Amino acid sequence: MSPSVITVETKENFSQNLVINRTTSELSLQGRIRVPGDKSISHRALMLGAIAQGHTQIQGLLLGEDPCSTASCFQAMGADISPLNTELVQVKGIGLGNLQEPVDVLNAGNSGTTIRLMLGLLASHSGRFFTITGDSSLRSRPMSRVVKPLQQMGAEIWGRQGSSLAPLAVQGQNLKPIHYHSPIASAQVKSCILLAGLMTEGKTTVTEPALSRDHSERMLRAFGAELDIDPQTNSVTINGPAQLTGQTVIVPGDISSAAFWLVAGVIVPGSNLVIENVGVNPTRTGILEALAMMGADIERENEREVAGEPVADLRVRSSRLQGCTIAGEIIPRLIDEIPILAVAAVFAEGTTVIKDAAELRVKESDRIAVMAQQLNKMGAQVTELPDGMEITGNTSLVGTDVDSYTDHRIAMSLAIAALNATGTTNIQRAEAAAVSYPNFIPTLQQICS
Ligand code: S3P
Repeated sequence: MSPSVITVETKENFSQNLVINRTTSELSLQGRIRVPGDKSISHRALMLGAIAQGHTQIQGLLLGEDPCSTASCFQAMGADISPLNTELVQVKGIGLGNLQEPVDVLNAGNSGTTIRLMLGLLASHSGRFFTITGDSSLRSRPMSRVVKPLQQMGAEIWGRQGSSLAPLAVQGQNLKPIHYHSPIASAQVKSCILLAGLMTEGKTTVTEPALSRDHSERMLRAFGAELDIDPQTNSVTINGPAQLTGQTVIVPGDISSAAFWLVAGVIVPGSNLVIENVGVNPTRTGILEALAMMGADIERENEREVAGEPVADLRVRSSRLQGCTIAGEIIPRLIDEIPILAVAAVFAEGTTVIKDAAELRVKESDRIAVMAQQLNKMGAQVTELPDGMEITGNTSLVGTDVDSYTDHRIAMSLAIAALNATGTTNIQRAEAAAVSYPNFIPTLQQICS
């Protein structure tokens, strides 16, 4: 008998239950797998390709729902983007300042990166009017973090609750440069302001309290923008107006997607798994550092640089984990991996404390509350903190009904937790995984067979 049976039940409303039934204790994860393209880099490649002069070719684009939202918004504003049905995507750029006024509301779907980065571009397209919305999760997420600095630059933006919630309406303006001291370490905030600075005459600077992912900086430079980066103060300055020229972008595998297999490999006894072609940009490798702190056996193999981003194959072997404290400057470098890190902590010796991560409460779901509730339903001991979680490790999980709350990272984290639970786990609304990892369930079935 196979050590686990993984099935998908599709309901009448097209929502999917992922059912993971551990039949024996013989499961171990072996082999070599690849994860889909990095979501953050995929969004940026589509956006910069659309607004640059000339042709951009993107290899390895994530074909998930979020990048599809970005592509359809830019297509609605005149960019010529080849259909997102292959990982090789061609973009004919329309040139900076040439986004057309869309005839309908732009829809960013579930994607915070799409709406927040795009707002910087829309706000600086003088004389054009845009409206933008998203799904119910996105319409409840805070937009004031980008609206306020854009307003300081002279942007005109309207929306519910003092322009803090989508749908938003934007009347494009000629903006003025500012030096923005962001209260949060957020790549979406930083990138929004840098994109607004592209067409703004003069120096637009963002300073953040800790370094967030730097894919925008790397890609803007590669497309020809003039950037000054001061690592001492975590400041980036863009010198506008910029000239952007189409490029070839090679998107590495997403470390945020690899994180599910890293934790699976660590917690499932006897595993030895290689995840190939993973982006290991230091602003994203907090998960590797946190798992190393906990005693995980993860090795980098075949380290190389591909189109301006560091890449490696990651070999993970099952390991005994020890609880630890994860807080401070590492948090922005593993913010999306905290749900799966919580799963690792459940199987660690001792207590794990995650702090300084209040941002998790305003992601696709309140990831602190949802992870604590769902893991506790399975028998874990997770206590919510205002800005994180305290997890008492070494508890045995028992399969039960759990819910993703339509959050892709919650759905996938619970699936990995289920691999080490006895009995049957039924994850409701598991189709959410397609936001960032359309092949997650087939890959899970493959490595568990
Ligand atoms: C992202 C930045 C992060 C991250 C999100 C993607 C990006 O959000 O959580 O999934 O591509 O810039 P914040 O910048 O809000 O932390």
